[in-house]
Amino acid sequence: MVVSMAMMLRIFICFLVVLIQVLSVAARTNPVDSAALKSLKDSWYGPSNWTGEDPCGSSWGGVGCRNSRVISITLSSMGLNGQLSGDVQGLSELETLDLSYNKDLTGYLPQSIGKLTKLSILILVGCGFSGPIPDSIGSLTRLVFLSLNSNQFTGRIPATIGYLTELNWLDLSDNQIEGNIPVSSESNPGLDMLVNTKHFHLGKNQLSGEIPARLFHSNMTLRHLLVENNRFTGVIPDTLGFVQTMEVLRLDRNAFSGSVPQNLNNLTHVNELYISNNNLKGLLPNLTGMNVLNYLVMEDTGLQGSVPANLFSLHQLQTVILRNNKLNGSLDTGTTYSNQLKLIDVQNNLIESFTQRPGYPFQIKLAGNPICNERGEGRKTYCMETQQTETYSTPPENCLPTECSSNQVPSPTCKCAFPYTGNLFFRAPSFSNLGNRTIYETLQKSLMQSFQNTKLPVESVSLRNPIRDLDDYLVIQLQVFPSSQDRFTRTGVSGIGFVLSNQTFKPPSSFGPFFFIGDPYKYFVEASTGSKKSISTGIIIGATVGGSVLAILALIIGIYAFRQKKRAEDAAKRSDPFASWDSNKHSGAVPQLTGARFFSFEEIKKWTNNFSETNVIGCGGYGKVYRGSLLNGELVAIKRALQGSMQGAHEFKTEIELLSRVHHKNVVGLAGFCFDQVEQMLVYEYIPNGTLKDGLSGKTGVRLDWMRRLRIAIGAARGLQYLHDHVNPPIVHRDIKSNNILLADHLNAKVADFGLSKFLGERGHITTQVKGTMGYMDPEYYMTNQLTEKSDVFSFGVVLLEIVTGKVPIDKGRYIVKEVKDAMDMTKDLYNLHEILDPAVCSGATPRSLEKFVDLALKCVEEKGVNRPKMSEVVKQIEYIMEIEGLNPDDESASTSATYEGANKGLNHPYTESLFVYSEA
Ligand SMILES: *[C@@H]1O[C@H](CO)[C@@H](O)[C@H](O)[C@H]1NC(C)=O
Ligand SMILES: *[C@@H]1O[C@H](CO)[C@@H](O)[C@H](O)[C@H]1NC(C)=O
Ligand SMILES: *[C@@H]1O[C@H](CO)[C@@H](O)[C@H](O)[C@H]1NC(C)=O
Ligand SMILES: *[C@@H]1O[C@H](CO)[C@@H](O)[C@H](O)[C@H]1NC(C)=O
Ligand SMILES: *[C@@H]1O[C@H](CO)[C@@H](O)[C@H](O)[C@H]1NC(C)=O
Ligand SMILES: *[C@@H]1O[C@H](CO)[C@@H](O)[C@H](O)[C@H]1NC(C)=O
Ligand SMILES: *[C@@H]1O[C@H](CO)[C@@H](O)[C@H](O)[C@H]1NC(C)=O
Repeated sequence: MVVSMAMMLRIFICFLVVLIQVLSVAARTNPVDSAALKSLKDSWYGPSNWTGEDPCGSSWGGVGCRNSRVISITLSSMGLNGQLSGDVQGLSELETLDLSYNKDLTGYLPQSIGKLTKLSILILVGCGFSGPIPDSIGSLTRLVFLSLNSNQFTGRIPATIGYLTELNWLDLSDNQIEGNIPVSSESNPGLDMLVNTKHFHLGKNQLSGEIPARLFHSNMTLRHLLVENNRFTGVIPDTLGFVQTMEVLRLDRNAFSGSVPQNLNNLTHVNELYISNNNLKGLLPNLTGMNVLNYLVMEDTGLQGSVPANLFSLHQLQTVILRNNKLNGSLDTGTTYSNQLKLIDVQNNLIESFTQRPGYPFQIKLAGNPICNERGEGRKTYCMETQQTETYSTPPENCLPTECSSNQVPSPTCKCAFPYTGNLFFRAPSFSNLGNRTIYETLQKSLMQSFQNTKLPVESVSLRNPIRDLDDYLVIQLQVFPSSQDRFTRTGVSGIGFVLSNQTFKPPSSFGPFFFIGDPYKYFVEASTGSKKSISTGIIIGATVGGSVLAILALIIGIYAFRQKKRAEDAAKRSDPFASWDSNKHSGAVPQLTGARFFSFEEIKKWTNNFSETNVIGCGGYGKVYRGSLLNGELVAIKRALQGSMQGAHEFKTEIELLSRVHHKNVVGLAGFCFDQVEQMLVYEYIPNGTLKDGLSGKTGVRLDWMRRLRIAIGAARGLQYLHDHVNPPIVHRDIKSNNILLADHLNAKVADFGLSKFLGERGHITTQVKGTMGYMDPEYYMTNQLTEKSDVFSFGVVLLEIVTGKVPIDKGRYIVKEVKDAMDMTKDLYNLHEILDPAVCSGATPRSLEKFVDLALKCVEEKGVNRPKMSEVVKQIEYIMEIEGLNPDDESASTSATYEGANKGLNHPYTESLFVYSEA
């Protein structure tokens, strides 16, 4: 009996073992694949849920299998940290490998990657790989999509890439790849063999030499050729004209010489053509064959001769940028110009006349041409230096934005969640107006469509802060919000990452080629762990019931509060805060405004001679600035908002209240305002001597020696310190730049233009949409949307660099902060900055004060706000530097009773760039 019992037990166990084996065979991963995956898992800190023995069977996140073989690994944005093991070669059936946006995935790309001969998609964009791209990549003959961009690859482009005959997409951009582009010869492969490839994205590397004429021939089917930002020399090969399929050409930011080959004109499908920043010369090429051209940039290329009128008759042309060349003669668009035209920018050329035709629907910029120096002409709108400051941010969809806890962010539908975020980079968009919301709305729609088509759990997307960066890419911040839960699962994030990294998402055609760089995502929903499960059901039920009661209570209170708020708001709307001021009788009768007076429309009309063009002293996106002369002869500057750009009454009131509270000799004062139904105007004290920017560029005719520059620096610093430390609540200016620092008598500097300013809250920072001016903008603020007073310190640091170098912040694609940092060598005399510093400064300054000044400027432009000094420290430092030079920082007139040789000669006036816009509450 005992024996048979043991027998039965043994049989039963046997049966169990067989059963388990049968079950597991069905799900078992091929052992070689399994071993390879385990090796990968050991060489990086992988997704935390790669657990269990059987990757396919126990569904390891991001691993796709077919018949027990691993065919795809998609781990976009998983926060992988470590290296890619050479054992990846074991995955011999692998078709898709996407490890994008894992910037801590570093080391070399293993040579053994060449063993994955079934691979058709290889995506490593936005990782941290370094070293050369292995030659073995040429063995991946099934490869269709190869994206190695935004890593730190070095070495040359492997010629073996020429063997990838099925390749559609080749992206090696934004690495440190050097040498020339390989082309085939006798027995060697080269990129000219890639007749099926539609995309050569090779920009932002260190490629050099000539682009071989052999690279291009009529059998190619290239649509995008992007080689911008390299070190190519020699002529642009005319064989390029054979590639009839071409749509987007970026050859800018190289050192091409000679003239533009005439037969580029046969490229009848080109939409966007960038040839800026090269050493070309000769006449503007004949482009009238480029039928569908809509964006043309040939800035800073040494072009000569005149602009032919027939250029503008290309019927899809929208934007023409020909700044900083030597174009001469007269500018005439003819009468048959494209009805799509939005912008013609020919600033800083030698153009002498301009045939203005009535009713142009587009913008023309001619500042810096001889025509704008002539009497009378200088005040014409087309001679004004204006800058675009439009911006965009996805608005809430008919809901009240909520305050979210800690790291959560409100979605466009006003739900708090943890969005997946990153930046979209558009390499050649075809529009120049970044303030057109229709454009962003179509982008939002197409993103949502893509996510829905791929069945991803996305509730909504939000776009923010479009900006043209230094590489002339359009950068837009993207937030993707989860549906159903407040955060994404790993599959959700890697799925979204893949849709963007694999270019499954196609933006509307006007956006052109793009890439995406995702941020690490930290808020995954993790599979529930044992400890969570062990919480007793009783507690859960109790908590749920209690929780629901609380939630219902909260809801009732919330609804009540919402109603009350709504009522209060409705009441506020009904009673217009300015309704009672709307007449002459009320001048000065406004409460809370100290010093600022109310002026009537009629008064201001009289002062400006009915807003006559001759009184225009500035203009910008918001409208125009006029000089006005009061009856007693006193001069004022009047900023009049365009009707379309007017802010609400409430915001206008906020701005004048803010301005009426600041009184300091280094801050421009507000004299009054006018608010008259369809008019919003601000009246300032008039500062006759122009801006610091004009002073530095020599436009004002004042010689700014070192002593005078220090005097200006201390004034501006004190004005800014006043805003930060002595106004309550503190004000962040948000748009500090040399153009907003005005020079009054005795070179007393005054900070102007509070159109973008903000009060700081109690916590010392506020979250707000990014606004400001390129070149001055604090990168930390741009990335985080967190505005602090240190953002002004950054901008002020850029101004200090301008003061000491005499250069504008962004010149021909070069950024002053980077230039100074790159050239700086502290061991050398004058920090080795002789070349960069303004000669006018070097002659009169002691090296010691210059060095201290540069030290201070670089502290102000530190990457992180916390490392920058406060304005009070900046003031102290400048005072100290003045003492080194033997100046008394508190003496007003000494050495600075500057006479303005030729001041006031039709200058571009200061109050140019403010916005009346307050787009966020
Ligand atoms: C283009 O293709 C044709 C036909 O396949 C071939 O005969 C010709 O040599 C090719 N031309 C070039 C320049 O490769
Ligand atoms: C391209 O342009 C060149 C010179 O401008 C011309 O000789 C050639 O025939 C053109 N090729 C095509 C395919 O139109
Ligand atoms: C410019 O190119 C067009 C189209 O290719 C041609 O018709 C025209 O004659 C050319 N003009 C000049 C001045 O060469
Ligand atoms: C424009 O420049 C070209 C080339 O430098 C020169 O030949 C021509 O005479 C100039 N035309 C005028 C009107 O100055
Ligand atoms: C805005 O964009 C739309 C779509 O591209 C276009 O039709 C419209 O003309 C643009 N508006 C302005 C003011 O540029
Ligand atoms: C890993 O996570 C994914 C979703 O992110 C899930 O589908 C899968 O079942 C998880 N695997 C394990 C072993 O928990
Ligand atoms: C990758 O994107 C292409 C379009 O660019 C699409 O055809 C393909 O199906 C995508 N691959 C996968 C595996 O979804």
